[in-house]
Amino acid sequence: MKSGYNLIILGPPGAGKGTQADLLSRKYKIIHISTGDMFREILKDNQSELAQEIKIYVQKGELVPDNLVLEMVRKRLQEDDVKNGFILDGFPRTKIQAEGLDEILDSLNRQLDLAIYLKTSYETILDRLTGRRVCLHCGANYHIKYSPPKQEGICDRCGGELYQREDDKEQTIRKRLEVYEAQTKEIIDYYQNKNILFTVSGDLSAKDVLKKVEEQLSQIETQVN
Ligand code: AP5
Ligand code: MG
Repeated sequence: MKSGYNLIILGPPGAGKGTQADLLSRKYKIIHISTGDMFREILKDNQSELAQEIKIYVQKGELVPDNLVLEMVRKRLQEDDVKNGFILDGFPRTKIQAEGLDEILDSLNRQLDLAIYLKTSYETILDRLTGRRVCLHCGANYHIKYSPPKQEGICDRCGGELYQREDDKEQTIRKRLEVYEAQTKEIIDYYQNKNILFTVSGDLSAKDVLKKVEEQLSQIETQVN
C-alpha cells in the first residue's frame, strides 16, 4: 500500500469532511489538518488577540481572511509530523487559498495526490448539521441519529462532554451555505483542471464514502507503481 498521501477534502458544510478525514487519517496514518478545528481550538482562549480577531467571522459563518488562514496552514505544513502525509479538511476555501497552497507545497517540494469532493444535497446537509455533536475535549464527531455515542452526551473515545457547535444554529448554517456557494464552490473547478479531482456522493453512508475513496486511492497507487 502506498503511504504518505497528500490529500484535500472539499465539500459544503456538513458534507462529512471531518468524518472522512478522521477515518482516512487513521487508515493511512496521515495527519488530519482541519482549519475549522484549529480555529475552534484558538477560540477556547477567548482572551487571546487572535481569538478576538477570528471570533467575529466564525460566529457569523463568514470566512476568516485568507492571509491569516494561509499563514496558519503554512506553519502547520512545515512541522515534522506532516512529512508522512496529510489530509487538509476545510482548506482551501477560496482561489487565493488554493493558489497559496500550491506555493506552500512547491516550497516544500511536495504535491497533492487527490482532491476528494463530497457532493452533497441540501437535505442531507441540514439533517447532518442539526444532529451533530462534538466532543469538547478531543473534537470527535457524533450524530444523534447516524453515529450516536454509547452514552448520551459523553464521548466514547475520551469521556469528554459533547456539545452542539455555536455555528450549527439554523441561521448560521444558512449563512455558511451562502458563503460556500459564493466563495468556495469555484475551487472544485480549480482541482478539476489539475486532473486530481475525485467526486463522491456525500449523501452515502460514511462507510460507503470511505470505500469509494479507498478504491480511488488504490488506483493512484497502481498508476504510481
Ligand atoms: P469548518 O469547521 O471547516 O466547518 P464546515 O466547512 O462548515 O464543515 P463542517 O465541519 O460543518 O462539516 P463537515 O463537512 O466536516 O461534516 P462532519 O464530518 O462534521 O469551518 C467552520 C468555520 O471556520 C467557517 O465557517 C469559517 O468561519 C472558519 N474557517 C474554517 N476554515 C477556513 C478557511 N480555510 N478559510 C476561511 N475560514 C475558515 O459531519 C457532519 C455531521 O454528519 C456529523 O454529526 C457526522 O457524524 C455526520 N455524518 C458525517 N458523514 C456522515 C454520513 N456519511 N452519513 C451519516 N452521517 C454522517
Ligand atoms: Mg468539519
